[in-house]
Amino acid sequence: MKISYIHGCDPRENMRLQDQASTLVELLHSDTSYPAGSAILEAGCGIGAQTVTLARNCPNAFFTSVDISEDSINEARRKVSAAGLTNVQFQQGDIFNLHFRPETFVHIFVCFVLEHLSRPLDALGSLKVVLKSGGTITVIEGDHGSAFFHPDSPSARKAIQCQVELQQDIHKNNKETFNPQLSLGLT
Ligand SMILES: C[S@@+](CC[C@H](N)C(=O)[O-])C[C@H]1O[C@@H](n2cnc3c(N)ncnc32)[C@H](O)[C@@H]1O
Repeated sequence: MKISYIHGCDPRENMRLQDQASTLVELLHSDTSYPAGSAILEAGCGIGAQTVTLARNCPNAFFTSVDISEDSINEARRKVSAAGLTNVQFQQGDIFNLHFRPETFVHIFVCFVLEHLSRPLDALGSLKVVLKSGGTITVIEGDHGSAFFHPDSPSARKAIQCQVELQQDIHKNNKETFNPQLSLGLT
């Protein structure tokens, strides 16, 4: 049976993305600091699991958070508003076809997005256009193929191998741009 799925919009996946972000908050964001007034693009914000931390840690920076999924954007907007944050604007949009002027942003934040795209280098090229000259980009991605378990476990290895294979299949099925209507979702 094919399950209709939008990344992050299934309640279980929404919870998983939130758990993942909460677990990694110290690792990913402990040294993040953007200067007051700076314009930051968060590309592929999903349901806003990272957005809330970014906006809370840098209350005087201004974030534009973009995702291809309208449903995810709506959920992200709800989360940010529930957290009482006002320094984020949301926009539904495609990383491969961004509607911003060249050199709009001083920094770009991308987390767990490129690993889902069949043309990650083109995505970076597209993001570079809207990045100011001398600006910076943070890219955080998972590499399931190099996962390490302690203690080691055959079941854990089997599970991660499923993820590796499923993501390979997703890439095969998404020749052009990411299709959020996946039959299965992974980080
Ligand atoms: C695994 S989620 C990560 C969300 C968030 N960055 C996080 O760490 O929780 C990947 C997100 O990338 C979005 N995405 C995939 N392809 C995209 C594209 N071409 N343009 C914009 N967003 C895209 C998906 O809709 C999804 O919300």
